[in-house]
Amino acid sequence: MTRVLGIETSCDETSAAVVSDLGPETPVSLTSLVILSQDIHRVFGGVVPEIASRAHLTAIVPVVQQALTEANVTLDDLDAIAVTYAPGLVGALLVGVNYAKGLAVARGLPVVPVHHMEGHLFAATLDDPTAQPPFTALLVSGGHTLLLDVAAWGSYRVLGHTRDDAAGEAFDKVAKLLGLPYPGGRHVEALAATGDPSRFRFTRPMLQRNASPDDPAYFDVSFSGLKTAALTAVRGSDDLARDKADIARGFQDALVETLAEKTFRAAQAYGRQRVVLGGGVACNRTLAEAVRQRLESLGAAVYTPTPRLATDNAAMIARAGLFRYYLGERAGHDLSAFASAPLPGQL
Ligand code: KG4
Ligand code: ZN
Repeated sequence: MTRVLGIETSCDETSAAVVSDLGPETPVSLTSLVILSQDIHRVFGGVVPEIASRAHLTAIVPVVQQALTEANVTLDDLDAIAVTYAPGLVGALLVGVNYAKGLAVARGLPVVPVHHMEGHLFAATLDDPTAQPPFTALLVSGGHTLLLDVAAWGSYRVLGHTRDDAAGEAFDKVAKLLGLPYPGGRHVEALAATGDPSRFRFTRPMLQRNASPDDPAYFDVSFSGLKTAALTAVRGSDDLARDKADIARGFQDALVETLAEKTFRAAQAYGRQRVVLGGGVACNRTLAEAVRQRLESLGAAVYTPTPRLATDNAAMIARAGLFRYYLGERAGHDLSAFASAPLPGQL
């Protein structure tokens, strides 16, 4: 049996998890997952990096201990420690990286460095083991929006990305405009559900009629114009209490339709029969449903992780780490943390 402890501290969740399998290509089980979300950032309406680092420092030891306890194992039962090294807040990442290195030195264990976005790619497989490549992937989180073609694990073609705001960032900013709490994505979704779709029809960004796969804009997205359109609607409203659900609906419809269309284009261009969603915005049921409907004509299966695995968590890091462990990847004692880094295996 191979057993990996995963550690994730890239933003405002301190998380640890244990996964195991019986060898390469065998079913992977998730034996424990602990996620501690730092509520303190709500007060500031966004993540404060210095506070995040300090909160990780306080939480990391008990969170890892709890993950081991729930998995009914000790450090002696582990084969490796997988840790997120990028991308994210450097101070936050360093807490996980240094703790992983400390444990590794003390116990003679290898450290496997994991790219956070590769972790998001693996999340859906923990719910449904058939979420395997080849597939089209749409990763939508607070910091990233990536459209990928995944021919095989470790082989990633980045087709498109956001030219400005990430999808989650756009949700959070519009939530703020509407007076909703941070992080705002799920509040916008709940409000939009009660909104009238015909009152605010915002332009769908980057969906030019004649776009072709050779056009660099074919797979890219951009949400800052949409955010400005929502801002203009808020400023132009003489009764925001009356209008805000309709504005939320108009914003979400435009964003979701754009992402569904781009995902369709990617699956069609590469002839993929599977689509994997990941990242916090993948919790949005309207998005998942829109992608499903848009992909119906291709007969593609759409996989969305459960919310606990879609948002930041260490289970996906442990799972991606297990894959990298079998490839023989090991970090040196000089492993550091990086605010950004290319996906490993990018074509
Ligand atoms: O992946 P994640 O947990 O953290 C990052 O790596 O950024 O994603 C967090 C983002 C936030 O922007 C949050 O507002 C958004 O995911 N989010 C949602 C929903 N649930 C979380 N956005 C739209 N609809 C939701 N239901
Ligand atoms: Zn994330």
